[in-house]
Order: sequence, then structure tokens, then C-alpha cells
Amino acid sequence: MQPRERFLAACRRAPVDRPPAWMMRQAGRYLPEYQATRAKLGGFLEMVHDPRAAAEVTLQPIRRFGMDAAVIFCDILVPPAAMGAQVRFEKGVGPLLAPAVRDRIGVQALQAFDPAQATGFLAEALSLVRSELGTERALIGFCGAPFTVASYLIEGRSSRNFEHSKAMLLSQPELFGELLERIVDASLPYLAMQVEAGADALQVFDSWGGTLDARTYREHILPHMRRLVTGAQATGAPVIVYLNGCDHLLEVLAETGADVLSIDWRVDPAQAMARVGERVALQGNLDPTALFAPPEVVEHEARRVLEAFADQKGYIFNLGSGILPKTPLESVAALWRTVLR
Ligand code: CP3
Repeated sequence: MQPRERFLAACRRAPVDRPPAWMMRQAGRYLPEYQATRAKLGGFLEMVHDPRAAAEVTLQPIRRFGMDAAVIFCDILVPPAAMGAQVRFEKGVGPLLAPAVRDRIGVQALQAFDPAQATGFLAEALSLVRSELGTERALIGFCGAPFTVASYLIEGRSSRNFEHSKAMLLSQPELFGELLERIVDASLPYLAMQVEAGADALQVFDSWGGTLDARTYREHILPHMRRLVTGAQATGAPVIVYLNGCDHLLEVLAETGADVLSIDWRVDPAQAMARVGERVALQGNLDPTALFAPPEVVEHEARRVLEAFADQKGYIFNLGSGILPKTPLESVAALWRTVLR
């Protein structure tokens, strides 16, 4: 099978010759060639806004390791910026968004945008990557999930406890719902643009959704997730939902209607298969920290994960979250030698 064919078959739970594989944050700081491109451009957002640089770093891990799918180099904070938030990245701090959205005026100031106009750089980067990959390898587009994006807008930065977000959800559920609605309204045309520009599949990153209990997620988040997933599927592309810390949410997440659930390393593969494996394809779930072990250990861990999912109809190998910046290259190479064999 060709890599793209293999990847799309697994998304649809159709038979494959071996599990397709890619890794979250595969274009990133662990790669010396990424560091070199970044040093030339000056910064992360500069790379995102430069289609040739974004296409280049998207392709770097494919050239080095030959994964089945490329994931376009961009960020989940691009749509909130296009909606009117000021977004910057500060060294050692992470993303900073201003002004923090805490009231009705703040929510109503966020506007839907024309993706071709406001995020044309992404469309161009996708077309450049598509023309390089041809039809051989899959290309994944993405956006942030409504809760995760809302939490950045409300907190104004990365957060540990999400105090302001949860306080708004509980005390002003209507306003919180309107914020999530606006995020979904803006995300749907943005995802459609990505498919039009060459993306084969779409991943929705709900990185912080695991901070919510299942009852709250079901009541306040699930309706917005369903609308996002169903709307994204209308493009014809399969949709992957990723949520870090998802063990208590597997059944709720299956109800989003996603084609694929991407699960973190704390979820037991056999349990995930038993609980939701007949309804959705699964992606994951090697602990990214395992890659700090020597190559032979990494090989063993990768085989263990592949074997654990051997009976899952529709399985995509991945990490349980993004690869960490200081991951040793020899271990990453050992991983891909093992998984792509
Ligand atoms: O996976 C990929 O290779 C595709 C590109 C991608 C990036 N961010 C590039 C990036 C994707 C899919 C994302 C998603 C993203 N962005 C998420 C969800 C995924 C997850 O890890 O849970 C989140 C929460 C963000 C917001 C964000 N962007 C954070 C918290 C950071 C880290 C800030 C820091 O100082 O390290 C970023 C920056 C970022 N996004 C980098 C990359 C490669 C690092 C940029 C750099 O310093 O070179």
C-alpha cells in the first residue's frame, strides 16, 4: 500500500498492510534542520506566516524518517488571532493572548474571518506541501477544539487550573456557550479551506479538555464538538479528535462522531479497544517521554504499543502527545526504524 492510501484506510477502519504512522509535533525543535530554519526566520510565528518556511519544516521529518503522513506546520492559536485576539509567543512563558476574554464585550469582539484572506499563508503552505508529496503521502490539517481555544482566550495564557474558564462555564454558561459557538463558526470555514488547499484529514486538538469531568464535558462541550466534527466531515475528510488525559472521557468523545480518537499514554490500549474500539478508529499512544530511553528500549516500547493494538480495526501509530523538544535523535530514529518496518 502507498502511505496515503494506508493512512486513509485506517481512518475509515478498512484493512491495511501495516498500521500507518506519524507523530504529533513531528516538525519541531528536536530536529536540527528545524532549528536552522527557525534561526534564519527569527521566530516561530514568522515561520508559520511564511508559506515556504512552513512547507519546508513540514517536510523535514518526512525526508528524514518517512512517516506515512505529514502534519502542516501551523498553530491552534492562528484562528483566535484571525478572530481579533493579539497572540504572541514569549520564550520560557509560551503563548500570550490579549485582551483576556472575560465578559460579553470580549466575546462579541471576536469575529468570524475569511480564511482565504486572513490565513492565506496556510493555504499556500498546504498547496506547496501537497505538490511535493503528490498523492504518495497523506497531509493532515488541524485546528484547536472549542474548549481548548476558549481556555487560551479566557486565561490569556497557558494555565494549570483554568480558573477563569471554569468560573465562566459555571457562572455564565450562556456566555461561555456563545464563545464556543463563535469558535466553531470560525473554525468550520478554516478547516474547509485546508481541505481545499490539499489536506486529506483533519485533527481537532482538545489538549486541555481532560481537565473537565465527563458530566461537564458532555453537557457544556460535547454539543459544540459534535457540530465541529460533523461540519468538518462535510468536506469529505476524516476527522481525528485528540484529547490529552482522555481516559475518563472515551465514551463521551466517541459521541462527537469523530472517525478517529487519538489517545494519550495513560489509557490502557485493551480497555480503549473494549470501550470504544468498535465505534471509532484509534490513534496513539506511546508516552513521548519513553523516547528519552536508549534506542533498544524505545524499540521495545514501540513494539509493545503496536502489539497492544494489533486487533484494533482502524489503528494509527502515534505518540500520546507531542514529541518533546529535547528528545534524543537516535531514539527517534530507532522509533521510526521499528514502526515503519
Ligand atoms: O504537530 C505538528 O508538528 C504540527 C504543528 C503544531 C504546532 N502546534 C507547532 C508548534 C501543532 C499541531 C500545534 C498544536 C498546538 N499548539 C497545541 C495542541 C497540541 C498539544 O501539544 O497539545 C497547543 C496547546 C498549541 C499552543 C502552543 N503552541 C504552545 C503551548 C506552544 C509551546 C510554547 C513554547 O514556548 O514551547 C506552541 C508553540 C509551538 N507550536 C511550537 C511548535 C513546533 C514550538 C515553537 C518553537 O519554539 O519553535
